[in-house]
Amino acid sequence: MRVWVATANRDKLKEIKRILEDEIEGIRVFSTLDLDEKIHILEDGKTLEENALKKAGALFEKVREWTIADDTGLEVYALDMRPGVYSARYSGGGYRDNVEKLLEELRDKEDRRARFRTVFAVISPEGKEWLFEGICEGSIIKEPRGDGGFGYDPVFLPDGYTQTFAELNPGEKDRISHRGRALKKVVEFLRGVAQPG
Ligand code: IMP
Repeated sequence: MRVWVATANRDKLKEIKRILEDEIEGIRVFSTLDLDEKIHILEDGKTLEENALKKAGALFEKVREWTIADDTGLEVYALDMRPGVYSARYSGGGYRDNVEKLLEELRDKEDRRARFRTVFAVISPEGKEWLFEGICEGSIIKEPRGDGGFGYDPVFLPDGYTQTFAELNPGEKDRISHRGRALKKVVEFLRGVAQPG
């Protein structure tokens, strides 16, 4: 089975590809990066669901094969679940600036609970759409720790763990992460519809 992943984010693609190839025998994973032409998608949806469908839809229009896309947000309880759908653009800068802004906003807050939420959109070759969600609850620590992962990983401590996402090994992160959990549902679904060969 051939599946297209609508992302040009190499960090994300690495995680998604690793899980799909480990879990579905014979799967071949392609991405936006394999296309000759560039597709520009404005992630201006008001929800993760809207953005995931928009990203998957834009790539699907080009390839007309199984296509998936995720949108992820960090939802911080003391910030009324911000930055959420705006997590990538939170500070206007890169990963480091986002983390810095987050720590600054949480400086005097006692409640440091947060969760990552991922929504995957899946589109079939016939153009039918499905959504799958994965959540990982945790908290935001005061200083970044670890150099694995990406984005907010160095300050996110998943519940029940003493290591941040950036300190866990990749397999461990996949097992408990928002994206890992949502993707597990996608894998179950794709296994159910996969044609042999
Ligand atoms: P996207 O819109 O789904 O690409 O993700 C929005 C932003 O959330 C990214 O730019 C990252 O900063 C952050 N993000 C997404 N997934 C993760 C993750 O697994 N760990 C840490 N940060 C993440």
